[in-house]
Amino acid sequence: MKGVYGKPYICMDPYVNIQQLKDISKDIHYGIGKAHAHIRLNYGIENHEEYTDDIRGAYNYWRDKETDPKLKQYGAELEKTDAVGFHYWLMYQYPVYEALNYLVIREFDRCINAPCVPYDANKKPMYDCRWTEASKYFPTLVDWAKELPFEPLGPIILLLKNSGLKTIRHRDCFLQMEPYEQEEHFIWFDPMNDRSLYVENGDEKIHMKPGNSFYWNNHDWHGGLENTNKVSWSMRIEGIFNKELVAQLKQ
Ligand SMILES: [Fe+2]
Repeated sequence: MKGVYGKPYICMDPYVNIQQLKDISKDIHYGIGKAHAHIRLNYGIENHEEYTDDIRGAYNYWRDKETDPKLKQYGAELEKTDAVGFHYWLMYQYPVYEALNYLVIREFDRCINAPCVPYDANKKPMYDCRWTEASKYFPTLVDWAKELPFEPLGPIILLLKNSGLKTIRHRDCFLQMEPYEQEEHFIWFDPMNDRSLYVENGDEKIHMKPGNSFYWNNHDWHGGLENTNKVSWSMRIEGIFNKELVAQLKQ
């Protein structure tokens, strides 16, 4: 296991304002409702080329193996004109059940599905970041996020999950099949206490608890311990931790 600052994971609750995030959860639910037209299926964020039985697998099949000209054309039309429509079409055409939808609040200066890698804490940021159209439905979340200990603040993604599913076991190796050396900073938030994530140390699954926000090395295998029993949301916020935070995490 690679770990972070010599630990398998770090609960980030002492370094962020979790109570305020809990307090604005009603605003976030209202925002999810109002931003519904921006909700997309997840096939691009983590670039999981190896998946076969989810929306990414459907996308790969259509792109690489589909021979029916009509289906090639339907997909190409939708991909160009309507991202949400394209993802729903893939889901029904191939057919796949996708656990995770996402709402992008802040992204690099390109579509979140465009090939890219996270910021590296030891290098100058390679992309600028922008607030999305959807972010205007989340004013209190945007204000809250601006106070987080990132410099700079990177992408913000709400992860919307259906009921009865667990987070698939995976490693996040952006654009690559194997882990690589890059220090990627992020905080994963679960303010409603709906999820149960683990990170693996060899054969051992280490449950990340207690707490509502965590940082771990996303090149280590991780996933969900238990199925969800209701719809739920969590949030991933990336960036580069500021110097004060890094000093505290190293202690
Ligand atoms: Fe992940």
